[in-house]
Amino acid sequence: MKILITGGAGFIGSAVVRHIINQTEDEVLVIDKLTYAGNLESLIEISKNKQFHFKQIDICDRKSLDSTIIDFYPDIIMHLAAESHVDRSIDNPSAFIETNIIGTYTLLEATLAYWKALDRSKQSTFRFHHISTDEVYGDLHGTNDLFTEKTPYSPSSPYSASKASSDHLVRAWYRTFGLPIVLTNCSNNYGPYHFPEKLIPLMILNALEGKPLPVYGNGQQVRDWLYVEDHARALYLVATKAKVGQTYNIGGHNEQKNIDVVNIICELLEELAPNKPNGINYYKDLITHVSDRPGHDQRYAIDASKIYQDLGWKPQETFESGMRKTVIWYLNNKSWCEHIKDGSYARSRQGII
Ligand SMILES: NC(=O)c1ccc[n+]([C@@H]2O[C@H](COP(=O)([O-])OP(=O)(O)OC[C@H]3O[C@@H](n4cnc5c(N)ncnc54)[C@H](O)[C@@H]3O)[C@@H](O)[C@H]2O)c1
Repeated sequence: MKILITGGAGFIGSAVVRHIINQTEDEVLVIDKLTYAGNLESLIEISKNKQFHFKQIDICDRKSLDSTIIDFYPDIIMHLAAESHVDRSIDNPSAFIETNIIGTYTLLEATLAYWKALDRSKQSTFRFHHISTDEVYGDLHGTNDLFTEKTPYSPSSPYSASKASSDHLVRAWYRTFGLPIVLTNCSNNYGPYHFPEKLIPLMILNALEGKPLPVYGNGQQVRDWLYVEDHARALYLVATKAKVGQTYNIGGHNEQKNIDVVNIICELLEELAPNKPNGINYYKDLITHVSDRPGHDQRYAIDASKIYQDLGWKPQETFESGMRKTVIWYLNNKSWCEHIKDGSYARSRQGII
């Protein structure tokens, strides 16, 4: 199969690309604008593989989309390109409206034009897979409540509102124009190649440098964490096996309070990186509570029973095994982190692939 992946140089996109190239014979074309979050160094391991291709494209650029899609002639489009950081959406929402809403609309229009011109048999097997988040559901207040595929949308941040808009557009293009779509809403991911502005890599890297570990408010916010490679397997399964029009929630049944996640990281570092920066007795001493994020959702938790039952997917990592792998990855891949910190990952982009 030929699979076009938008946002394939990002955290989850690159995990999906590595999964497909390493586990299947499918051909992959990544299209990515390479914003600050796009990093070709996350794709180095598979970049020389003949199944892999890359093009730097903005999903808002209809002309480039049209020619690229027609040239590659994909069987599946997996759409991951997005602005994805909630804090950035609060500071400056415009890029979120532009990429997540206008970009998704532009991609839908380009895909629809391509799909309409396909022959009947390719039309019937083609899929547009939109990758979204559980944040579209807003937050949960009861401790036993879970998001199901039927939970009404109630987004809180500019990020989640822009993702909710894109989900509505995707479903409208299915209902109104017949575009064969599938949609997934996933909980918080963690794992290798995660950009260091996000909670888990930020804590690991700050701790190793002896910097404060900033925890929003009281740290009691609950997230349902999923190891990124488990998500990548689920996405491939949905893209290739799900029936048209279906939505799947994806999650790890793995609820953790933010403060507990930070404590686990500190404990793992005590064991795996016992030589601390000067003057620090325990990594936990670096924990600092800072003002809470405006509109901060309290609890997310996913009911993933539909994907378990329909497609037989289950996460393979526990939180303990996934966190251990993640911390070890950051300890062993200091140059990936250094190149982000000194900006050279952006300057050296063209030479990498
Ligand atoms: N990270 C999570 O925990 C999580 C959870 C559930 C769903 N999601 C969703 O999964 C998708 C991927 O998330 P991520 O964490 O890998 O994000 P990311 O920020 O790491 O990567 C996003 C990628 O999209 C690219 N991009 C941004 N704007 C673009 C544009 N206009 N045109 C083309 N490419 C563009 C970036 O360069 C980057 O490579 C997003 O749609 C996000 O909403 C993320």
